[in-house]
Amino acid sequence: MSKMAPNCDVANLNLAQQGKARIEWAAREMPVLKLIMKRFAEERPLEGVRLVACSHITTETANLARALKAGGADALLIASNPLSTQDDVAAALVVEYGIPVYAKKGEDVATYNQHVRIALDHKPQIIIDDGCDVVATLIKERKEQLADIIGTTEETTTGIQRLRAMEKSGVITFPVVAVNDAQTKHFFDNRYGTGQSTLDGVIRATNVLLAGKTLVVAGYGWCGKGVAMRGRGLGANVVVTEINPIKAIEAIMDGFRVMPMEEAAKIGDIFITVTGNRHVVDTHHFLKMKDGAMVCNSGHFDLELNLTGLAEMSGEKRNLRPFVDEYEIKANGNRVVVLGEGRLINLAAAEGHPASVMDMSFANQALSAEFLRKNHGKLHAGIHTLPEEVDVEIASLKLEAIGVKIDTLTPEMVEYINSWEHGT
Ligand code: ADE
Repeated sequence: MSKMAPNCDVANLNLAQQGKARIEWAAREMPVLKLIMKRFAEERPLEGVRLVACSHITTETANLARALKAGGADALLIASNPLSTQDDVAAALVVEYGIPVYAKKGEDVATYNQHVRIALDHKPQIIIDDGCDVVATLIKERKEQLADIIGTTEETTTGIQRLRAMEKSGVITFPVVAVNDAQTKHFFDNRYGTGQSTLDGVIRATNVLLAGKTLVVAGYGWCGKGVAMRGRGLGANVVVTEINPIKAIEAIMDGFRVMPMEEAAKIGDIFITVTGNRHVVDTHHFLKMKDGAMVCNSGHFDLELNLTGLAEMSGEKRNLRPFVDEYEIKANGNRVVVLGEGRLINLAAAEGHPASVMDMSFANQALSAEFLRKNHGKLHAGIHTLPEEVDVEIASLKLEAIGVKIDTLTPEMVEYINSWEHGT
């Protein structure tokens, strides 16, 4: 670990002023979280709660942390990915907002894991997780701390997939709120957030023109839909790969070509994985790619591309520019260009989802922490979603903030939708 200041392991505390200015800039696009922060400051619903947030350390996460602190939480932050930390934000959280942070952009996996353990040493009662690494470590290594847990929340599709596997094996002894399952989370963050920020990451890393390129999007979940939609908007010819027949039909009817990766590998210029599964682009796919094909990932973990296999079948890796590494395949001499080391390209090479969508995602996180505290002892162990009224409330506040009014049901309409007598 680098030089330690009290309560932190961050790259450079001198970046705090720059970080603060950027955090305040993001806050302008986070009106819903701002309202929650104001109420939290008055009501202090998290007074004295030891809380760990494992999240990408971005300007948006900083605003969530401010809201949690305003609500009385004794919060500590760690990174949910070794390459996503914004070092100026980490510094500002420590210096300007007095929140302990353990996160450095480019930290190695050993440091990342050490930060997870430092977070657990904080003896959290509430854990806000993104990818489920803290909760998995808690269950594997800190059983004696399980009794302290009021509940946990999970931000991502991947984390919820892991939690469902944990629930099946009976190891979850506390309530978990699946924040990703809220409509005001995945409809917007996964689709519009991932859609824009992923292409932003590809463009910032490479400065390539997308118009006219064949863009292969692996996975047509909410994230894949967003990437495909925005790729088309920038003029790319988008090909989708899927394993789910229903999603494949959806992609076709949305106007995309669908084919197996084996075929797509031969024609793609740029590949983006967003499946949540491993080795979606494997060694036999790399062998079929055109010279100079670019591959990257925007799924939570860095195993969607088989980079170990790629390294084994290639000569020395060459770094061409930040977040751009080239591998030359020995068998055919073709070059494969890997962006962002196969880690989330939107956070490695760009700044992650814009604040406007994270506003709703993190409103869900803040309200989930409050929900867990309010209902301490009343919720069953296992996975919960926030009540639908909360989703509707967040959407209503967002509409109000952006100055959009909508219609309401008339008494005649209410009567109609609640009756069965009316027909032909
Ligand atoms: N996940 C994706 N984008 C993010 C952001 N801007 N902040 C925190 N987590 C994110």
